[in-house]
Amino acid sequence: MPLDIIVGAQWGDEGKGRIVDLMSARAEVVARYNGGDNAGHTVTVGQQTFKLHLIPSGIIHPHTIGVIGNGVVVNPQTLLAEMEMLRSHGVRVDDNRLRISHAAHLITPAHLALDKALEKQRGKGSIGTTGRGIGPAYTDKASRTGLRIEDLLDKSNLGEKVIAHVHKVNQLLSGIYGAETLDPYPIAAQYLEYARILSPYVADISLLIYETLRRGSRVLAEGAQGTLLDLDHGTYPFVTSSSSTASGALVGLGIGPGQVDRVIGVVKAFQTRVGAGPFPTELEGDLALRLRGTGSQPWDEYGTTTGRPRRVGWLDLVLLRYAVRVNGLSQLVVTKVDVLSGVPALKLCVAYRMQGKVYSDLPMGVADLSPFEPLYEELPGWEEDVCSARSWNQLPGAAQLYIRRISEVAGVPVRSVSVGPERDQALEV
Ligand code: IMP
Repeated sequence: MPLDIIVGAQWGDEGKGRIVDLMSARAEVVARYNGGDNAGHTVTVGQQTFKLHLIPSGIIHPHTIGVIGNGVVVNPQTLLAEMEMLRSHGVRVDDNRLRISHAAHLITPAHLALDKALEKQRGKGSIGTTGRGIGPAYTDKASRTGLRIEDLLDKSNLGEKVIAHVHKVNQLLSGIYGAETLDPYPIAAQYLEYARILSPYVADISLLIYETLRRGSRVLAEGAQGTLLDLDHGTYPFVTSSSSTASGALVGLGIGPGQVDRVIGVVKAFQTRVGAGPFPTELEGDLALRLRGTGSQPWDEYGTTTGRPRRVGWLDLVLLRYAVRVNGLSQLVVTKVDVLSGVPALKLCVAYRMQGKVYSDLPMGVADLSPFEPLYEELPGWEEDVCSARSWNQLPGAAQLYIRRISEVAGVPVRSVSVGPERDQALEV
């Protein structure tokens, strides 16, 4: 049964949206399995650039069904804005094309207020959250007090549930964090209105995916964030609150492991990170500015959701090997290779050193990377602009060497490379 999982192999922002868009040409269902509107997936089609946070990027193809899985936390306000944005660009979004799991959890303004209050309280130890209420919504899920999408279907109880939820959060806001409280009544009225609009979209998406797979049609599971932001396997506590690794696709969509065909890891040709936390190969100065871009282009290294400049560095293959392992990656797609054109010499981090000992695999996970010193291999750069390359042979020898080396150290094949944001700026390896 052809289920492909697409997962970010770094700290998010690897260009998954663009790869999902490309692969959606041959999929019937494209399903988001984790996270919420903290994610930002940018897809460029001709003159149009779509910035999506919740709806799977695959919906831009007219033949697909977009699915929001039970592993996702949904802010209805963002969802509705995104539906409108897509419609304004001529993308059909109706209840035949978009299905939302009954078991996904809702984000409310109370979660947003709590997220901000918590982050403020952390002070210097702040995580650098996107402030979208993600952590508090998943906290409610785990403590079994959350509001689920299926609550939107029970309009006679929804208002009361929302009011009780806001009252509970207000106690925390005023009692613990000294923050402003919220008026629950307009929020409840707002959620009743969301219920009216969104009810037709609610479905058992596990069943929908299962039936699609049984017919032999392809399903793409689209991960948000990346391996190193996974709640269990990421750089804890500088992580998000969901399972962004490949196994999260199974839990987050209600499907079993027997259905998986390929697990595709998307990795940028260099390393980036938004928010706080250790980053062994981080670069400062002119080279960092060059890799980041000026922010004038949608694909420059500035957060799609928050607009924050991303931290940038050399590609870290120790972390990539880790991503191969914890996701069971079967292949890699390397993005943004074009950005490296003109960098005279390139470095790949192939091992770490700590107290005189060399590690090619992390001895104790990725939670604390700060004691490690990166050990680099230097490779020649290339001068040529590669944006117009459409086949492997059109890449300069130095670019081929760089990509081959990534594959060798990671231990899995690189199947595809992207050299620009447009749909046709990708080549098979
Ligand atoms: P949260 O998910 O908003 O709670 O943020 C937790 C951490 O994950 C912060 O460091 C964020 O910057 C980071 N983060 C969350 N979503 C994304 C994403 O889509 N791309 C990159 N970083 C993200």
